[in-house]
Amino acid sequence: MTNLKIEVQTTIPFDGQKPGTSGLRKPVKQFQESNYTHNFIQSILSGGLDNPAGTTIVVGGDGRYFGKEATEIIIKICAGNKVRKLIVGQNGILSTPAVSSLIRKFHADGGIVLTASHNPGGPDADFGIKFNTSNGGPAPDAVTTAIYKYSTEIKEFRIVPDLNCDIGKIGLEEFQVEGEAFTVEVVDCVENYVNHMKEIFNFDSLRSLIKGDGGSPFSFLIDGMSGVTGPYIRRIFVDELGAPEEFIVRALPLEDFGGHHPDPNLTYAADLVKSLEEGRYSFGAAFDGDGDRNMILGKKGFFVNPSDSLAVIAANLDCIPYFQRTGIKGFARSMPTGAAVDRVASKLGKELFEVPTGWKYFGNLMDAGRLSLCGEESFGTGSDHIREKDGIWAVLAWLSILAHRKESVESILKAHWEEYGRNYFTRYDYENCESSPCNEMIEHLRALQSDSSFVGSEHAQNGAVYKVKMIDDFSYTDPIDGSVATKQGIRILFEDGSRIVVRLSGTGSTGATVRLYIESYCGDKRKLQNTPKEMLKPLVEIALKISKLAEFTGRNEPTVIT
Ligand code: G6P
Ligand code: ZN
Repeated sequence: MTNLKIEVQTTIPFDGQKPGTSGLRKPVKQFQESNYTHNFIQSILSGGLDNPAGTTIVVGGDGRYFGKEATEIIIKICAGNKVRKLIVGQNGILSTPAVSSLIRKFHADGGIVLTASHNPGGPDADFGIKFNTSNGGPAPDAVTTAIYKYSTEIKEFRIVPDLNCDIGKIGLEEFQVEGEAFTVEVVDCVENYVNHMKEIFNFDSLRSLIKGDGGSPFSFLIDGMSGVTGPYIRRIFVDELGAPEEFIVRALPLEDFGGHHPDPNLTYAADLVKSLEEGRYSFGAAFDGDGDRNMILGKKGFFVNPSDSLAVIAANLDCIPYFQRTGIKGFARSMPTGAAVDRVASKLGKELFEVPTGWKYFGNLMDAGRLSLCGEESFGTGSDHIREKDGIWAVLAWLSILAHRKESVESILKAHWEEYGRNYFTRYDYENCESSPCNEMIEHLRALQSDSSFVGSEHAQNGAVYKVKMIDDFSYTDPIDGSVATKQGIRILFEDGSRIVVRLSGTGSTGATVRLYIESYCGDKRKLQNTPKEMLKPLVEIALKISKLAEFTGRNEPTVIT
């Protein structure tokens, strides 16, 4: 076996290699700049791990443009840093939940996920690199800060330029790097994940649901949005659960997601919504580029808001074998997520945690055994089976509930609102705004905290009056390790429990995206069938006035409404 040599190459830092809500996301062209990707990978290994030598790392991504090149760079730099073993998805492909599952299953020291999630892909779009720690979850703030710090001081990276590995072929490849063994294990991207799902759910009962009884098959449509979930949904829904091939669409991963924005929401998955509206299917779901997000629809396109989806799953967890075994520990949601799950937690007598936006904040609670199920308004739902949100898991959870309750999605939701009341929720996104006016808008809102006339002020709109009870910039102290995250979004709470939240997205690659979240609780049974639009209209207007959003951003209409 050739004894490969490590080269130490000099480099200089790049500005802005600061991971956002979920990893470093930038235009592909930026990652293609000479040494840009090399620097960041070296920073992950040196800043994110105590010592990369001797470690095992999982590598894979959503198959977007530049993924293969990045995987090759990672393999060479890991070899240069004396990493002992890499577990790589075939052709560099692994969904984000699959990476998390593999890290945990093989007790790896971490994982490198190549994705910009729901951001578009292709040579003129985005790429991203995210580091996950040994618990399988996104690196916490302290680790991403250390990675960033390293990137600002980097002087050299270590690489084995002559190491060539065929990531298209499943199996083990052994190399010798300066006298020591370096192993690359290329794995089938789906195998381990499917086995994991079989341990969690009752596949027999799902198979019978899909088969239907007495000649009325359960028909559904699953949209992979040309992201990484394609091979997973084919294997699980068609091969394992027996659904006809035509129940899955856009199930071939494409480097540019077919030119679409691979984000499962009412705007970017409008085709799926339209197909469901035609009435043939009883259930619909879509996933984002890397397979951690999900959108759930019922017959005729009945939309399940992610905050409600979380609450319904929470209230029905006991029909899933995994939770029958582990018991229900506690629930959590991100701060802007609608509080429907809070009501389920209180009814079941379970703990409820409210964390900042970002899945990384759930990890410690899960590791400490205090959290079973959590979710975010941004179409993320998941449990402590891994440390990432998991789109396919959420669909299997919903199908388990449908199999158990033998009711439609819509009637399950309606029964839930009857029992708990309804948390009306909407989110307005203003994408690709200029950064500085958005920052000024946030500063303007922050300043209201010290305006003594703001708390107690009354805001009237369309005959409704809302009185401000409290305003703050959300901060969170992790109950497990005491770490503190500040400035996580402006919250304005009103006397009747309604609230407005404003924050800037942490997942864009350029410019700024403003997110405005509005929520109001309704316990009046006569109003439960109203639309969020009619129920929340006055509060939306009030939010726009208080934030002076149009004035600061120049936008009169949002890009996406959820
Ligand atoms: C990613 C993270 C989520 C988070 C979302 C928020 O998907 O994995 O945990 O909720 O980003 O994104 P934003 O653009 O609102 O910062
Ligand atoms: Zn994602």
